[in-house]
Amino acid sequence: MNLRQNEQQRTRHAPAKLNLFLEVLGQRDDGYHELETLMVPIGLYDSLSVEPLAADAGQLGNIELTVRGSEGTTGIPTDSRNLVVRALELLRQRSGCGLGARIELVKRIPSAAGLGGGSSDAATALELGNQVWGIDWSREQLTELAAELGSDVSFFLAHAAAICRGRGERVESLGATAPLHLVIVKPPASLGTAEVYRALDQLPCEGNAADAGRSLQSVARLAAALQRGTPTQINRWMANRLEAAAATLSPWVVRLKSIFAEFDCLAHQLTGSGSAYFGVCRHAQHARRLATILRMRQVGLVYAVRNCH
Ligand code: C5P
Repeated sequence: MNLRQNEQQRTRHAPAKLNLFLEVLGQRDDGYHELETLMVPIGLYDSLSVEPLAADAGQLGNIELTVRGSEGTTGIPTDSRNLVVRALELLRQRSGCGLGARIELVKRIPSAAGLGGGSSDAATALELGNQVWGIDWSREQLTELAAELGSDVSFFLAHAAAICRGRGERVESLGATAPLHLVIVKPPASLGTAEVYRALDQLPCEGNAADAGRSLQSVARLAAALQRGTPTQINRWMANRLEAAAATLSPWVVRLKSIFAEFDCLAHQLTGSGSAYFGVCRHAQHARRLATILRMRQVGLVYAVRNCH
């Protein structure tokens, strides 16, 4: 969504995501894991402004990033370790554009939380770079670049709930879905995605052909419930295969699971590789009340949000 527009600069919100379902179907030859996941974008946002910078003759323009963070978002790099910078460098390289960019990133989505903040920022950077540099590529062209940047980046170009497969980069958009009232906790400890997948590989029970069959059924039923607008049954289909692996690395997973179990949520689980954990509440007041109680318990950062439906 555009917040402000002039000829030079564009600013947009970059939403976080939650995984309502995540099944790992096996390991791949490229070191990644074959996934089936259902993700929803949610109303917790970073924001990103991109202003084009002219280039000196024969040279590429600078790409300059400044980051303003809030709690849970400190220590974010501003060089090409940041996916936003990498996204614009890749877009420029592939399109042949020589311009530079001044980027301002306001971080609100906690990092290393399974909320997709870095991937969402990268997808938004691709869209803004495409506009301010006048490249005018289609969403399909941007999606090809997105897959090179990270497994979740393509999802954020779809701007809707989606089932994602492959590494996560094959996106089947679900269109409009039911509103969900969500409470998210980001505990003080963070988790690294690669580390959680490594921990999964050490666990005795992994994805197999039978799991693949069950996964297809669960994800289809969950998608249908969300599309029909009847999410009260979603606890039957929600699951996250990475949760047990994350629990071997952080005591917060089990702790948050037992705390959420006290509060009559429709369902609750880890998002992605964690460390954030979330509950689907019965209505907006339930979510507000739960968020207030969790803040008093000092379990970490607490957000009451809705999905972008
Ligand atoms: O693609 P992305 O950079 O988000 O992935 C981070 C890490 O998570 C990868 O390096 C890999 O170790 C792991 N991963 C995986 N299978 C996936 C997605 C991520 O093993 N489908």
